[in-house]
Amino acid sequence: MKKRVLSGIQPSGKLHIGNYFGMIKRMVEYQNSSDLFCFIANLHSLTTISDADTMKKLTLDAAMDMLALGIEPDKCHFWVQSDVPEVAELTWILSCITPIGLMERAHSYKDKVTKGISPNLGLFCYPALMTADILINQSNIVPVGKDQKQHVEMARDIAIKFNNSFGETFVIPEPEIPPEVATIPGTDGQKMSKSYNNTIPIFDDEKVIKKAVMGIITDSKGVDEPKIAKGNVIYELYKLFVPNDEALIFKKNFEKGGMGYGDAKKLLLEKILNEFKPYREKRVELEANPKKVEKILEEGAEKVKKISLSTLNKVRQATGLKY
Ligand code: ADP
Ligand code: TRP
Repeated sequence: MKKRVLSGIQPSGKLHIGNYFGMIKRMVEYQNSSDLFCFIANLHSLTTISDADTMKKLTLDAAMDMLALGIEPDKCHFWVQSDVPEVAELTWILSCITPIGLMERAHSYKDKVTKGISPNLGLFCYPALMTADILINQSNIVPVGKDQKQHVEMARDIAIKFNNSFGETFVIPEPEIPPEVATIPGTDGQKMSKSYNNTIPIFDDEKVIKKAVMGIITDSKGVDEPKIAKGNVIYELYKLFVPNDEALIFKKNFEKGGMGYGDAKKLLLEKILNEFKPYREKRVELEANPKKVEKILEEGAEKVKKISLSTLNKVRQATGLKY
């Protein structure tokens, strides 16, 4: 039987190349070799978005982004999280066997609190909902960036605890994080993230993409000076778009001197615009037909609901909630 691969993306803003290489590209590749589950995690976004129109717009935008980037609904399960509310019941059941201490150790939660966000209960329970997403579909593999590793490990811990307490019910999932795309750097050298304002967006205006690339922060080495490629944001991003031999030529030119940061950025920009051109065109087509996208999502939810319900019924039985 094909392995089940599952991952979700929050509808919370503009997709960037960190999302693409960290998760989406692999998901698209998995469509041909696995049983793929890909969803828009709007219940997760509700922890931060409190305006209905914004939520609706971002949800449809995220769906169009994923379809434009190559998700094919005929080859996988593709849906919006809140259309399959069974996951919320499972979240409650799992939260009754989840130690508070486990949630308190979540880096992502702690970081947000340190940054001054006043947390709601939803944000605190976020990893329990993510666990339910993963377990309700009996997922084997969860492709994510490194920032999500701990959440997937929590899902493993909770699945093991449930199976030990109530009998074998859940598949134990594995995070999948290839080291070369675990943390894509942003324009300031930190992890690329919407929250850090350091992203290179995929579907924005070309001018916006150009501004982001040309704004990559570098040291002040002149054109002729040799530069260190490893760890340099321009080189690290360039490598993602080209085969190894081409990356090596770039590295040599960079290290021997004679290639300025401005020229290197222009080469990178060209690669980015070329890579995403067909996807940007597809995105425009989809925008013209939102009803079609809504229908795809409706059909996707119907398909996945059967699987979610079948797991949930096992859980209801195992816990005695079905009497
Ligand atoms: P952001 O940090 O911009 O809010 P999300 O949390 O929405 O991004 O991430 C969606 C997916 O993309 C997750 O699987 C996450 O691990 C991955 N991802 C996000 N940023 C990066 C990055 N800089 N490098 C690698 N993967 C990333
Ligand atoms: N928390 C993930 C993120 O912010 C999104 C997500 C929600 C997810 N549920 C999931 C990812 C289940 C993988 C599996 O990126």
